[in-house]
Amino acid sequence: MRIQTRTQVAIIGAGPSGLLLGQLLHKHGIDNVILERQTGEYVLGRVRAGVIEQVTIDLLDEAGVGARMHADGLVHEGVQICVDGVRHRISFKEMTGKAVMVYGQTEITKDLMDGRAAVGAPTIYAAYDVALHDISSEKPRVTFRADGKEQELLCDFIAGCDGFHGISRKTVAPTAITAHERVYPLGWLGVLSDTPPVSDELIYVRHPLGFALCSMRSPTRSRYYIQCSLAEDIESWPDERFWEELKPRLDQEARDRLVTGPSIEKSIAPLRSFVAEPMRFGRLFLAGDAAHIVPPTGAKGLNLAASDVRYLSQAFIEHYAEKSDAGLDHYSDRALARVWKAERFSWWMTMLMHRISDNSFDHKIQLAELDYLFRSKAAMTVFAENYVGLPY
Ligand code: FAD
Ligand code: PHB
Repeated sequence: MRIQTRTQVAIIGAGPSGLLLGQLLHKHGIDNVILERQTGEYVLGRVRAGVIEQVTIDLLDEAGVGARMHADGLVHEGVQICVDGVRHRISFKEMTGKAVMVYGQTEITKDLMDGRAAVGAPTIYAAYDVALHDISSEKPRVTFRADGKEQELLCDFIAGCDGFHGISRKTVAPTAITAHERVYPLGWLGVLSDTPPVSDELIYVRHPLGFALCSMRSPTRSRYYIQCSLAEDIESWPDERFWEELKPRLDQEARDRLVTGPSIEKSIAPLRSFVAEPMRFGRLFLAGDAAHIVPPTGAKGLNLAASDVRYLSQAFIEHYAEKSDAGLDHYSDRALARVWKAERFSWWMTMLMHRISDNSFDHKIQLAELDYLFRSKAAMTVFAENYVGLPY
C-alpha cells in the first residue's frame, strides 16, 4: 500500500535552491514538502561556494535566516588578481558602490536547515527512487520510497531543485528541452584548511603553471584551489603535494604569508558551462544547478540558484495570493536572461585565467586582456559590475 499525502509545492532537492525556495514559500503561507535523496549530514558535508552577492544576502534576509551570515560573514570590497607573480586590485566599492560577502555554502545550508526545522516545515531526507509524474497535467505527483515505505505526494506544482545530476530535468522528454554545453578540459582541486588566509581579499591567480585561487571561510580558515587535469586522482594528492603546487603560482608576498597545514577537506570539481532551455515544463519548474551550471571562476553558481528562486517564489506567491499566473508564465524567460549573462562572465573569466592550451597566441591574448583590464576604468567597471552581481 502506498502512503498518499498532499502539498501545494513539491520541492525536489534540499540544496540551497530547494531549502531557500521552501523557506520563502513557507513565509507566505504556501505549503511545501522537500524530498532529498541524501541524508542531512551528507548535504552539510559538501564544501562548495564561498562568495555571495548582495541580492543573495537580501534573499537570505527575506527568508529570515540572515542573522549568522551578518555576524560571521566577511564583507569584501574588492578582489585581487595576480598575473605571473604581480598582484593587482579591483575595487568593487569604487567601481560600483557595492561589495560581496564571503560566507560558505555549508553555513548557508545549515542556516536554511535550522530555519526550516524551527518552523516545522517537512523535509524528507533519504528519499529514494524519486519519480515525477503527470507534469503536463493539473495534478502532478511525485512517488518515492522513504523509511522503507512506498509513498506518493500529490501537489499543484513541482520545483526541480535537484542539481545537475538530479531526476527532474531527466524526466522531461528530450525533444522538449535544448541543452547548451561547454566542457573545459580541466578541473579545480580544492583544499580547506584551518590556517589563516594569505590575504584579506580573494586572490585569483593566472600563472604559466596554471590557475590558482586563494579564498577563505573565516580569518582562521582558508580555501585554496589549483587548476588540475580531469584525469587526476584525489588519492595521489597528499597535502604536501598540493602546497608545493600552489606556492610557485603565488606572488612573493603571498608565498611569504602562506601558512600550510593539514587539509580538512579535499575534492576535485570539473569545470562545465551548461544551460537547459526552457526552465518550465507544464507544472515542473527547474531552478539552480538542475537547469544550469557555470564554471566556479566567477563565483556565480550559488548566486544564480538564488536569483532563480527569487523569480520562482514570487511567481508562486502571485499564483496563490493574487490568482495571477503571469509570473509563472514569464519565469523561464526572466530567469534565463540573468543566467546567460552570468554564463558569459563565468566563461570569460575561466578562459582569461586558466592555462587552457599550449598555444603562445592564446597566452599573449590572455595577457593583453588582463593588461587592458588593469589599465581601463571602463574594463574594471565591467568586471566589478558582473562580479558583485547584475541587477534583477
Ligand atoms: P545542489 O547544491 O546540487 O543541490 C541539489 C540537491 O538535490 C542535492 O542535495 C542532491 O542530493 C539532491 N538531489 C539530487 N538528485 C536527487 C533526486 N533524484 N531526488 C532527490 N534529491 C536529489 N559555486 C560557486 O559559486 N563557487 C564554488 O566554489 C563552487 N564549487 C562547486 C563545487 C562542486 C563540486 C559543485 C558540484 C558545485 C560547485 N559550485 C560552486 C556551484 C554551487 O555549489 C551550486 O551552484 C549550488 O550548489 C546550486 O545549488 P542547488 O541547490 O541548485 O543544487
Ligand atoms: C570559494 O571560496 O570556494 C570560492 C570563491 C570564489 C570562487 C570560487 C570558489 O570564484
